[in-house]
Order: sequence, then structure tokens, then C-alpha cells
Amino acid sequence: MPEAPDPRSRPTPTRVPGLLYGGDYNPEQWPEEVWAEDARLMRQAGVTMVTVGVFAWARLQPGPREWDFGWLDRLFDLLAAHGVAVDLATATASPPAWLVRAHPELLPVTADGVRLEFGSRQHYCPSSPVYRAAAVRLTRAIAERYAGHPALALWHIHNEYGDHVTECFCPESAADFRRWLAERYGGVDGLNAAWGTGFWSQHYGHLDEVEPPRTAPGPVNPTQLLDWRRFCSDALLACYRAERAVLDELSPGVPVTTNFMSMFKALDYWRWAAEEDVVCDDAYPDPADPQAHVTAAMHYDLMRSLKGGAPWLLLEQAPSAVSWRAVNLPKRPGLQRLWSLQAVARGADGVMYFQWRASRAGAEKFHSALLPHRGTDSRGWRETVRFGAELRRLASVAGARTRAETAVVLDWESWWALELDDHPSARMRWLDLLRPWYAALYRRSVAVDFVRPGADLSGYRVVLVPNLYLLREETARWLAAHADGGGHLVCGPFTGIVDEHDHVHPGGHPGPLRETLGVVVDEFWPVPDGEGTTVVTADGRTLTARLWTEWLETTDAEPLARFGSGPLAGRPAVTRRGTARYLGCHLGDEIGVVLEQVLAEAGVGPVLPVPEGVEATLRTTPDGAEYLFLLNHGERPARLTLPPDWATAPDRLTGAAVGSRFTLAPLDAVVLRRSPRPR
Ligand code: GAL
Repeated sequence: MPEAPDPRSRPTPTRVPGLLYGGDYNPEQWPEEVWAEDARLMRQAGVTMVTVGVFAWARLQPGPREWDFGWLDRLFDLLAAHGVAVDLATATASPPAWLVRAHPELLPVTADGVRLEFGSRQHYCPSSPVYRAAAVRLTRAIAERYAGHPALALWHIHNEYGDHVTECFCPESAADFRRWLAERYGGVDGLNAAWGTGFWSQHYGHLDEVEPPRTAPGPVNPTQLLDWRRFCSDALLACYRAERAVLDELSPGVPVTTNFMSMFKALDYWRWAAEEDVVCDDAYPDPADPQAHVTAAMHYDLMRSLKGGAPWLLLEQAPSAVSWRAVNLPKRPGLQRLWSLQAVARGADGVMYFQWRASRAGAEKFHSALLPHRGTDSRGWRETVRFGAELRRLASVAGARTRAETAVVLDWESWWALELDDHPSARMRWLDLLRPWYAALYRRSVAVDFVRPGADLSGYRVVLVPNLYLLREETARWLAAHADGGGHLVCGPFTGIVDEHDHVHPGGHPGPLRETLGVVVDEFWPVPDGEGTTVVTADGRTLTARLWTEWLETTDAEPLARFGSGPLAGRPAVTRRGTARYLGCHLGDEIGVVLEQVLAEAGVGPVLPVPEGVEATLRTTPDGAEYLFLLNHGERPARLTLPPDWATAPDRLTGAAVGSRFTLAPLDAVVLRRSPRPR
């Protein structure tokens, strides 16, 4: 008999065919009579998978030795009978009251020493052996019971690690931190050297003297803080690993995931994604933010990149309003559809929501749901059903990938180090530095991947480094090799400043990249808030630098632009040495002027030239069929012109012919398919 294919090696994330559609389903909030209606309506809406059990710990294990699986058994069977697959949570994100009262020491403690109480969720110390053991016990009980159920399609470990609580300062965490440090440094001498404890009399005689960076009288040792960030990401990852080990043992072959929170600072998602079978994201763009779709695109590109371009899942988003902002705007008609298609356009093989049925009680009762409080006679429900039907028409997109020739380097430890205190300017924040670079590419419809330091760059013509404040020697060599091999490299300001211990590279900045870039930075000249310094390009354009400028000297580079005002007037602002460029300033949105030139030289073009407000992306199936997604995020109708080989394709969403010239209404989208080209 041929062996069943391992779902982990499949091109799509689960064994459910097509693009997944569904959401978090919390039946424990409802009497069982309601479930039958839920299942019927799920079928009506075209729901193919629901996430079950995320906050069901107290229901599944009402006491230390009591288990109640009967309700979940019945639910599983009901869902299976209606053709709905299950993304089953291990339910470990909200420890029950009995466990907390028996072991109050598992509650997390803030940097100020405040123990956070029971009454919300995510109330656990990641290093607590009691919490970890209880979570593993629960995972084991659930896996033993449901590993073989035919409706099980995906394992959902925990929920949004790091949501609410990213760090804990209790004695248990302190002991775990010391264990982590002992592993990293071998002994106290290595730690003293790495932490630079010669400064301010911070020398340690023994590792036992080390504590987490609790609130202190003044600035805390920056390397201690950096190691703490690394440790906190690892401590949560250890929780994930402990649960994953149980699933590997009891449920081999069923893919495992946990849901990410987009570009989330506290967790190094490169390390996390490596231990998942499929990357999942929870995305809550704000309908009140006119640029929300650009940030969302950036997050989705990251999700696709985290596992080398493999399809990912949008596991949570709001059908309309959320309930946790100060003012929660609903999504106007069409926006939910448009933003869902955006995730698919950028590599998602499923569109899921929080949550299926709107809660009547609890902190999220005003959060929108696929099935609103009003029931099926509501705008929300009609959109739920309509979009479910549309998504079915895109089933053959599942498994398709995106090809990008431009890569942006993202390194969590540099992000952490950049945002430590006592820097020349507190305004240099990673996301603020990154966003304009990404937006410039987005506006030009250029496909982008994110890469981690050391990744294979062979497919990329352009590598962008908006900032790598922390630059390891090996990362510098990796970037240099790309530029030396003729690849384009653009490095942003305040890059190459410190090594992995947050010690300044000697000899001038950008440390180990000085030779590759042919420049040396003599001094930082941050720009006061609200002010700007003009930058004049060699071809006579005047731009404005904000936040940051540098006293830059060229050693082996040609200036492409010079400062036009202020104390640095006349000095180089943007330079190039061969294919390697350096920016000694932050140009904000005007970075596009520099990037446009680089893209042109590198021969990297747009997916399709489109008018402003329209997003164009391409996904290609393993057999070579291409899907072109065109999404109008703008307020006005957009006139589009298609090349001849796209113009004959009907819109996959509606089946209607599109033609070579057509108008895309605001918030509307089309998806076109082009057959594999003959080889
Ligand atoms: C997510 C969380 C869900 C729900 C949702 C509301 O962060 O995973 O459980 O709270 O937010 O927007």
C-alpha cells in the first residue's frame, strides 16, 4: 500500500483542499443547542476550518484530576459531519483559577515587582516549571484524545505567545535567566566581558549575583537588557517546544503552528518559524488608518518570508471592528473582502477570523464576528457568506508562491539593540526606519521578501538594509559578498555600530562595512524634532532629511547627494561604491528617490505598472500558472491597462470578462489567471 503523504511536505498548509475559510470558534461560551445552528451556518458560509479550544482550559480540565472531553467529542463529530475541519488549540494560554490559586507563584511579575492577577488571560510566567508541566499535561491529554480524529487538520499551540505578557521578573524567571546566561557564556568571566561590567562598578563575582533587569535607579546595563530580550523570546519558545514535543510524539503527520502577531518586537520569529510547519498570522489593520494596507502588506510579506516563501495562513482578523482600540471603526462594505484578498495576494492559503459567533459576555462582546449579534439578517453575515463563495473560486491559488528579486534584511536582535536607551537619538525606531523603505517599494509594485542575516541571497538583485545597528562580523561579510558579487546593496544610517554584545565597533562607523561602502562616519548629528536638513542630489533634486544625519566622509566612494543646509552643508549625505550605497541620513518617504535609481540599475521592475492606490501582486503555482491580484485601496476608481496575455483572462472572483482596459472601483479587486507558458 502506498504510504499516505506527509502533510508537512505538502505545498499547502493542511490537508483541507483550497483556501481555508473560517475562524476562532468558542462553543464553550454557548449552550449546546446553538452548536447545531453554528455547524449549519458554517456550511452555508463555506467555512472549511475553525480554530477550537483556544481558551477552553478551565472547561477541559475543571480540576487537577478532572477532565471533561465529552463536549469536545460531540463538537468534533458535529463539525466532521458538516465537513468542517478543526484547527485544535492546546488551550494553554489561560490557566484556570484552580491552578492559579494552588500555585500563585506561576503568575507573572512586572519589572516593578507587581504580580499580575487572575481575571484576564495570559497570566503565567514563561519560566514557571508548574505552568510548563501543567501545559504539557493538558497538551498530552488533548493530543491523546484527538490525534486520530479525521476532522483534525492543524495543531494550534497556545495562542499568540507574548500577547499581554512578554516577560516576567519573578525569582523563577531570574533562575532561568541565569541558566540561560551560563549556557551562553560558560561562566561569569564571559558574562563580565560581554556585558562590559568594568563600567559603573557592575562586575559580578558569580553568576548567582545576576538578576533580570528590574526597575533600577538609572540606565540599566544595555547588554544585560539585550540578553534579557533574547532570553525572553527563548523562554516563550521553550514553552512552545515543550508542547510541540508532545504533539510530535502523539500526533506525527499533523502540521503544527502557533499564531504570530505580525511584526512583533518581543519574539524573534525567524527562530520561531523554524519550529513550525506553517506560519500563521493574526492581523488587525486599523480601518481608521489610511495607510493600514501598506503596513499590512509589509506584515504579510514577512509571514511569507519566514518559511522561505511557503504559503502561510491568516488565522485571525476582524470581520469588521475590533473592541480593544480607543475608538473601534468598523470596516466599510467591501473592506473586509479587499483586506482578506490582500493576504491571499501576498501568499496566504487561508483567510480566518476572530471570531465565528459574537460573544454575549466578556471583554470582547463588542468585537465583530462572522455571525454578528443580530444574526443572519445582518450586513456582516451577508458579507461572510458572499466572501466564502468567492474564496472557493480561488481554490486553485492554494500552494502558489511569489517571486521577489528584492530583499529587506530584518534582524530581531538588531531591532532590540537599536531601541535600547541612551542612544544619540531615541527617535531611531526600527519600524519608523523600515516603513518608508517598504512603502517606497510597495508604491512601485515591487515584490519584496524579508531575509534574516546569513540567508541565501542568490535570487536577489537588490538587498536593502534600512538599519542594522547591531552588525555581527559574519553578517558584514555576508553583505559584502553580495555587493562584491555585483549585487546591489543599500544601507541605511546608524548601521554597523555595535557587535553582538552591543560594544561599538572600533575605528569609525559603519564598523565592518566601512570598506564595502567606502565611507566612515565621524559623528552622529541627530535632527531635532520637527526640523529638517536639506539634501541635494547630484542631479539637482532637493530632499529633506529628518530624525538623523551623519558627519560622513568618503574613503572610496562617490557622493550621490550632499547636505544642503545646517552644520553639515556640503558634506556627503548619500554615497555609492560600485553597487553598494550608503545613506548618512534618514530620508523618510523620499527614500524612494534613491531606491528608484537602484531598482532601475538592477533591472528590477514592478509586477505591473498600476495607478496610485492599486496594489498588484503575482502568485505562481508549482506547475507555472500565474495569478495576478489587482486591489484598489484608493478612494477613486482606477483605470488599468493590461498587457495582451492577461487581457483575455476572466476575473476569477466574478467570472466576468475584464478586457485590456478597465476600471477598478474603490475597494474592488480582480484576480486573473494566466496558464503555464509552454517551455
Ligand atoms: C487576538 C487574540 C484573540 C482575540 C483577538 C481580538 O489578539 O488572539 O483571542 O482576543 O485578538 O481582536
